[in-house]
Amino acid sequence: MHNIAIDGPAGAGKSTIARLAAEKLGFIYVDTGAMYRAMALYFIRKGIASGDEAAVQAACGDIDISIEYQDGEQMVILNGENVNAFIRTEQVSMATSDIARYPAVRAKLLDIQRNLAAVKDIIMDGRDIGTCVLPDAETKVYLTASADERARRRYKEQKERGIACDIEMLKQDIIKRDRQDMDRETSPLKQAEDAVLLDTSDLSIEDAVNAVINIYSSKKAAG
Ligand code: DC
Repeated sequence: MHNIAIDGPAGAGKSTIARLAAEKLGFIYVDTGAMYRAMALYFIRKGIASGDEAAVQAACGDIDISIEYQDGEQMVILNGENVNAFIRTEQVSMATSDIARYPAVRAKLLDIQRNLAAVKDIIMDGRDIGTCVLPDAETKVYLTASADERARRRYKEQKERGIACDIEMLKQDIIKRDRQDMDRETSPLKQAEDAVLLDTSDLSIEDAVNAVINIYSSKKAAG
């Protein structure tokens, strides 16, 4: 078995690159951000403020999160409902970064994520996969790109989804979210000591996917 951990800031291309690399390698792709997003969606729908840690913590017990795959695509199931269509808005992104600070939220998802990795070859992406969720992952990559490039990519992605947005606002949201994800006390975003840094600012998607596969191949050969 081989686990690949991919961490990095918002919009660095983690999900696109990890999904394509998983396809090529025949691994299962696990998007952990989508699980945090589903939890944030629950709190938004219930009118629970993302800044209210006590209320968020109290509600955690009412939430059941699981993932399923349809035609190779990950579906996040929140209390029995596939919520994939509702978790990609900017409102959900910001609320997700807010609630991901809370230990109760992280503890809830940690076991689910570890259990997935225990039984299959997976590529898992997030913020704390190499440092906390899968510290023994055989391959670790820290994916990053400049804030301008990441905002451009997010803008294009949102436009393709038919979501109206402003590129400068997206950039400010990304910077704010990065700061919050890096500065929090519980499992902050940071490069694991044994992770390979991959800056995708000037790489095509195909080149970035190949770079990840090359890192995997060299780890596999060495291990
Ligand atoms: O990767 P993403 O943009 O879907 O993640 C949304 C938010 O979820 C991100 O701002 C921080 C949080 N997150 C986290 O704290 N830990 C993870 N493993 C994945 C996501």
